[in-house]
Amino acid sequence: MSTKADTVVKKGYNVEEIRAQFPILKELVNGKPLVYFDNAATSQKPRRVIKAESAYYATINANVHRGVHTLSTKATEAQEAARETIRKHINAKHAHEVIFTSGTTAGINLAAMSLGQLLLKKGDEVVISGMEHHSNIVPWQLACEWHGAKLKLIPITDSGEWDLKQVPFSDKTRILAISHVSNTLGTINPVKELIAEARKRGIITVVDGAQAIAHLNVDVQDLGCDLYAFSGHKAYGPTGTGVLYGREELLERMPPWQGGGEMIDTVTLEKSTWARLPFKFEAGTPHIAGIIGLGEAIRWMEDYDFAFAKASAEQCKSAFAAHEHLLLEHASKELLTIDGLRIIGTAKEKVGVISFVIDGVHHYDLGTLLDQQGIAVRTGHHCTQPLMDHFGVSGTTRASFACFNTIAEVDAMVDGVKKGVNMLR
Ligand code: ALA
Repeated sequence: MSTKADTVVKKGYNVEEIRAQFPILKELVNGKPLVYFDNAATSQKPRRVIKAESAYYATINANVHRGVHTLSTKATEAQEAARETIRKHINAKHAHEVIFTSGTTAGINLAAMSLGQLLLKKGDEVVISGMEHHSNIVPWQLACEWHGAKLKLIPITDSGEWDLKQVPFSDKTRILAISHVSNTLGTINPVKELIAEARKRGIITVVDGAQAIAHLNVDVQDLGCDLYAFSGHKAYGPTGTGVLYGREELLERMPPWQGGGEMIDTVTLEKSTWARLPFKFEAGTPHIAGIIGLGEAIRWMEDYDFAFAKASAEQCKSAFAAHEHLLLEHASKELLTIDGLRIIGTAKEKVGVISFVIDGVHHYDLGTLLDQQGIAVRTGHHCTQPLMDHFGVSGTTRASFACFNTIAEVDAMVDGVKKGVNMLR
């Protein structure tokens, strides 16, 4: 029996055509063809993104929003075109709700520092979940410490899902900060439902979308969130780029986080006033080339991905996600044939991320052996130590799939794991 996802993949998905877009996939690693399964750490880049970034340096390199000269105008136009591309992609109401950052970490730090100042006072509470990346824990710990607030946790279940019966909302909760998708488990969280509940209570909602943006059709108005942060480099774009989306009314109220050039309206030695949105939150020269590359990455995804998604009945997942889901199902089935292997994170709704542990095999040793066969996976705690504590493990081996991965590559990894287990046990 075929699923909707199968139909999408069979009708339109040509993985070889997609692979041909990625120059790095022709590289040999340790003498073997590269099998890249570390996409949750950073995705590979299609040729169009690499070209767009280098074309900026080669033809229009200049600072933005500062000069009257031609190059500055062209650079500004290219950067602002990227902002508009992103606005449309995430369905923000206004382009000035799209703030450029250096990545998800910077976006969440901006949110925590600015919202902390705006909202938190002694005794208030911030709710996060037990599966958060350190980037969505530590900034809130800092904000809570500075303002005398408390951090509260949504516990997670053994399958790696939120325990929605135990959401610790109270009349002191001011902020809910949650991940859309878990980087370690792949769980797709029911953010829309929780956001709706939070909004009824007047709680400000912040979403860490780092692991969602390359897989799901993110629509910030449909989600109803106040702030949504993501990185460019996990969505086929350059490193050092990211976006913090914010609802206009809230951004207007939030104080700036960093001071410097471009974020001001007027400066005297006594007092400064702030520039309009989004510039209030964009101090200093941005990563112009990277932003242009990010715009191109989003356009590339739309050309190769969302065109398929629109043609399908699958509303929330992109065509890439449907393809990655097939890889996930195959990998889960094959890996589970290995004696002593346990998958960490078995939620019903997952993106193409699989974390596992094997009795008597250390993840670091396994990752090293896989690397010798040209297979790149991530090992360790994946910046989610509290989650590792919950599952009682020190780390996992994690394979995270992208649009260009194939079933044959999954088979190569499974063979590699079997070889590794024979050597290490
Ligand atoms: N957050 C990235 C990961 O999960 C680095 O690998």
